[in-house]
Amino acid sequence: MRQQLRNFSTLMECSKACAAEFFKTARRVIDERGEFTFVLSGGSTPRIFYSLLADIGRENLIDWKRVFFFWGDERCVPPESPGSNFGMAADLLLAKIGVPPENIFRMPGEMLPEEGAAAYEKELERFFSHGRRSGGGWPPRFDLILLGIGSDGHTASLFPRGEVLHEEKRLVADVPAPAGMDPAVPRLTMTLPLINRARLVWFLAAGADKARIVTDIFANPGMPSKYPAAAVQPEGELVWYMAEQG
Ligand code: 6PG
Repeated sequence: MRQQLRNFSTLMECSKACAAEFFKTARRVIDERGEFTFVLSGGSTPRIFYSLLADIGRENLIDWKRVFFFWGDERCVPPESPGSNFGMAADLLLAKIGVPPENIFRMPGEMLPEEGAAAYEKELERFFSHGRRSGGGWPPRFDLILLGIGSDGHTASLFPRGEVLHEEKRLVADVPAPAGMDPAVPRLTMTLPLINRARLVWFLAAGADKARIVTDIFANPGMPSKYPAAAVQPEGELVWYMAEQG
């Protein structure tokens, strides 16, 4: 695993750098392989980044029809719910760029959690069984997975001491509602076997409390850690986008 840390003073600066790198990376991959598979994260930190992708992307910097959108985790709520990670990205990005609906693979937060996880894994099997994608091996390799990090070091919905951290078979799992986090509902999450197959993983984080965690993880790559985010060690490259101010 190759990794790098990119520090910025503000979340706006960090998000602009992330957006610029997104278009550069996506265009390179589309030129090479004809499409780009992008896994979005939830939470509040990526909001500016998603808005920038919509604003800049409108200048035809990228053929959105060649980008396929997935989610790394989702709250078990309907897509129209304020707590939906999909709903947030749909409002800020997807609704503005005219991406074909068949390019959007929403995690079914409205289903029973265990059924929703199984259904999404089936969806991934279908998507990656076609054409050149099937040559990528299994678990499938996403071109880019965007992740956030919580102040307890969780990422996606992989929370500290969660059984799902030891999942070796399922690529998508359901997890119980995390204590003390809103919305207090179960979650669906990609698991580490899937996340760590990625060609590229970006963490996007802001604020002093997260900077301390990121610094600790970055300084001790591959070492056992109480932080679930430290278990993200992709086969490809890992880039930490860190903003001092939230
Ligand atoms: C979620 C996210 C989660 C998020 C972190 C950071 O469903 O909430 O996927 O993993 O990335 O909790 O959230 P903030 O960006 O809001 O701090």
